[in-house]
Amino acid sequence: MKRKGIILAGGSGTRLYPITMAVSKQLLPIYDKPMIYYPLSVLMLAGIREIAIITTPQDQAQFQRLLGDGSQYGLDLTWIVQDSPDGLAQAYLLAEEFLDGAPSAMILGDNIFFGHALPELLNAANSHTEGGTVFAYRVADPERYGVVDFDGDKVRHIVEKPKNPPSRYAVTGLYFLDGDAPKRARHIQPSERGELEITTLLETYLADGLLNVQSLGRGFAWFDTGTHASLLDAGNFVRTLTERQGMQAGSPDEIAWLQGWIDSSILAERAEIFKKTQYADYLRLLLEDKMMQPKNG
Ligand code: G1P
Repeated sequence: MKRKGIILAGGSGTRLYPITMAVSKQLLPIYDKPMIYYPLSVLMLAGIREIAIITTPQDQAQFQRLLGDGSQYGLDLTWIVQDSPDGLAQAYLLAEEFLDGAPSAMILGDNIFFGHALPELLNAANSHTEGGTVFAYRVADPERYGVVDFDGDKVRHIVEKPKNPPSRYAVTGLYFLDGDAPKRARHIQPSERGELEITTLLETYLADGLLNVQSLGRGFAWFDTGTHASLLDAGNFVRTLTERQGMQAGSPDEIAWLQGWIDSSILAERAEIFKKTQYADYLRLLLEDKMMQPKNG
């Protein structure tokens, strides 16, 4: 079965109050684009076209205004509501019907990944259909994340927000799991804070010897935008990178075209929608750039 995608864009974003009192966190700008463009781009780079987006009931209409049914990117989007944010693993219960037994790649709507060879890494994770793959990234503040407890080269445990982190390696918010994830999620117990933790779900895979923890090297950038400072850092990073290279990071329009999911006439129409922005200019330039060619174009 083909792997399906999930973007978890629910939650109340209380750590970003007052900004998120009236707007969903995942719609906030990361420099020149809404935050959700970036995780959406990651799933698209992994070759995934059937994607469910989970939002709060009140924010769903705004996300739909932005992304529609996904056909402008050659995608098939499904919309799912999360009534109350009861933990990341709950996403697998909400998406069980959508997944219908398929393996999945779930990405958190506030996680931003950038790195050379990212598509290759994603494709490798995609082709592993049994068990799961998660990505570990060295950070200065591991206590904010799920943290990998290593025993030599092997992974002993994954611990959620430990006061005394067993390593500096955080587990990023991108989870490739097999078709058993919803069934496993149904059997895990809520944590002390009453949430179905993703780390508890990952631990079940680990206990069965079915979890592959892949390190993202120092050439990668990973941001989770969970605080005002990290939100600004991510925006500044995208600005620096894109202005220096004259290339976009996190453009679903570009990726859809490069993947051969939309043709050049659709890309040209998309550019018109974005009027006189740099983003629109970029899409127009792509069509003339001999170095950038669609896969089957
Ligand atoms: C969640 C997960 C944590 C993971 C992090 C990545 O934490 O619980 O394991 O490392 O996402 O962004 P949250 O940001 O929801 O507190």
